[in-house]
Amino acid sequence: MENAIVHLTSDSTSLIVRCTPFAEILYLGQRLNGFSADDLISLGRAVPNGRIDVDAPVNFSADSGRGSFGTPGVEGHRDGLDWSPVFDTVEVQQQGNQLTIITKDAIAGLQLCSELRLDHSGVMQARNTLTNLKAENYQVTRLAVTLPLPERADEVMAFHGRWIKEFQLHRTRLEHGGVIQENRRGKTSSEYFPAMVIGHHGFSEQQGEVWGVHLGWSGNHRLRADVKTDGRRLMQAEALYFPGEQVLEQGESLETPWLYASYSASGLNPMSQQFHRFVRQQILRFPTNKPRPVHLNTWEGIYFNHDPNYIMQMATQSAALGVERFIIDDGWFRGRDHDRAALGDWYLDEKKYPHGLKPVIDHVKNLGMEFGIWVEPEMINPDSDLYRAHPDWLLALPGYQQPTGRHQFVLDLNNPQVFDYLLERMSWLLGEHDVDYVKWDMNREIVQPGHQGRAALTAQTQQFYRLLDVLGERFPQIEFESCASGGGRIDYEVLKRSHRFWTSDNNDALERQKIQRGMSYFFPPEVMGSHIGNKRCHATSRQHSIEFRGLTALFGHMGIELDPVKEGDAERAGFARYTRLHQQLRELLHSGNVYRVDHHDDTTLINGVVSIRQDRAVFLVSQLAMPAWSLPGNLRVPGLDTQARYRVSILDAPALLANGQPGHTMRKQPDWIQQPQELSGEWLEKAGLALPVLDPESALLLSFERV
Ligand code: DGJ
Repeated sequence: MENAIVHLTSDSTSLIVRCTPFAEILYLGQRLNGFSADDLISLGRAVPNGRIDVDAPVNFSADSGRGSFGTPGVEGHRDGLDWSPVFDTVEVQQQGNQLTIITKDAIAGLQLCSELRLDHSGVMQARNTLTNLKAENYQVTRLAVTLPLPERADEVMAFHGRWIKEFQLHRTRLEHGGVIQENRRGKTSSEYFPAMVIGHHGFSEQQGEVWGVHLGWSGNHRLRADVKTDGRRLMQAEALYFPGEQVLEQGESLETPWLYASYSASGLNPMSQQFHRFVRQQILRFPTNKPRPVHLNTWEGIYFNHDPNYIMQMATQSAALGVERFIIDDGWFRGRDHDRAALGDWYLDEKKYPHGLKPVIDHVKNLGMEFGIWVEPEMINPDSDLYRAHPDWLLALPGYQQPTGRHQFVLDLNNPQVFDYLLERMSWLLGEHDVDYVKWDMNREIVQPGHQGRAALTAQTQQFYRLLDVLGERFPQIEFESCASGGGRIDYEVLKRSHRFWTSDNNDALERQKIQRGMSYFFPPEVMGSHIGNKRCHATSRQHSIEFRGLTALFGHMGIELDPVKEGDAERAGFARYTRLHQQLRELLHSGNVYRVDHHDDTTLINGVVSIRQDRAVFLVSQLAMPAWSLPGNLRVPGLDTQARYRVSILDAPALLANGQPGHTMRKQPDWIQQPQELSGEWLEKAGLALPVLDPESALLLSFERV
């Protein structure tokens, strides 16, 4: 068979796959320029004593029948038979950087098709599709993608979290056994973002080898990084299935979600930059090329108190601040006066809006802003007309009492009547009104997802995608935000049909610094909703200066989340100032390379963006807590052109340091601040800038412009 060995390359990465007699990844790492298939002789493994007499590969299907004792890639059976498939290659197809390997087990009557792509950004995509070839049904329990890793990949970094504290990092040494991460909440979840970074221990933002992986799936998932007892390592990723959920009739297939992987030889920054480039080029489909508009979202400003005249005042104030998109959040539909009722009743509340939405929308448009609106289509409150009419429309199991979550149940999107009802109501909303943007929420976890008695979570997730896809086709000019309580449904598969994520319901700038950093590993700034919230944060009651809130919101897709009518002049001047600053910088922020800078004091977080042409950069130095040391050390600026010179300036500083004032924790500012400088990119990278001493919960924005 031809194509026994395939070498795919990107600028940075090589992927070498042996396609026969079975499919196996031999290398995923730094690009090789002189590779020859003959070199592979060097990888032929020894067979140790005291175990199976032949070499057992870590192949795509991780077949246990080849003597590999790890978790198989395919688990299932046909009424107790055909439960240990062994897949041999029957066909290999290659088109450019896309490889398809079709393998079969004729005894078990199964086909496994593995697809691999290496994008020029350096991101590898992989998925497996299992097909039942026999007349009897095949029950699939597990179907995973398996990725071998080298022995030096001995530390795992992953993400945990919860509502209002998403994307928190933790690290674990990978020595014996393994690390398993499971999410069973029915959506991507705030608890476990479906990703892992596995690298050589001690890897950091700027150093060390890392393999980052993300499973693009908005349902339940399992990710594992394993050390086999012989020392080899691998990672596996899969969507989780409930018992009996996946039954394949003859000719039917089941696909894994796509697994995305990015390798870096020099720390987490290049890994993220590759993921960002991939998202920008391969996933995001903005209806137009316009800059990401600055939002004003009404939620924390008025909650359920909708008065169109007042909302129009809010819109007027928003436009004066430079806001470009005005979004009416929850509370606009019939009976929605609090969060205990009305989900499902997608009809305008005519008591609140006696003249319809049109006057508000016209007002927003006349002010030159786009108009957005909030929905939560997948949900239903027991106190709703829809529930009273159709109590059987729930995604649930008959006979059991569903627990509510935020006083709501989940609708069964697998029921065509439900799907059609939602499609009709959403089409009314989006077709009859001049809507530019939809904030699509999803505020509860899914328990016992039953359709006609059978488990149906995968189908529910697919129907959710279909609903968004159909609406996307019907209304191609409308953008969607994936919200899910903030942070609950953030992944690459939902991003294929949405344009922004609501990152977290926590607008506390201090908490946001960490949440946004966590999200930045896999997502570029332009999809990360980041809002300036009220001075006293509604999630934490903490208070922050407008400078700290403004600078923290600056590095995402920026917005404001409060009632501008009620704010005083100083706060309003701040909103206008940071909106303007964001608008000045957003082309750079939303297209450049993101850097997170290693710093010896973890009370200081430093991140920045360098333009692709390296002619401009901004770096934000955020002091999260009292500095560990009285001197903060130097910022060695990554990513600049070492052949060029840069004008260094301060774009924004805490009010206390304005006009060269020292502040609380500093007696005198560093020399370079007092006399603005032009310095070489090389010097800035190798020696750096002495940082000023910043007070806790304040930040400094630095600019570098090529001269
Ligand atoms: C949860 C979201 O995350 C909030 O931003 C807001 O839209 C509320 N739901 C509305 O109920």
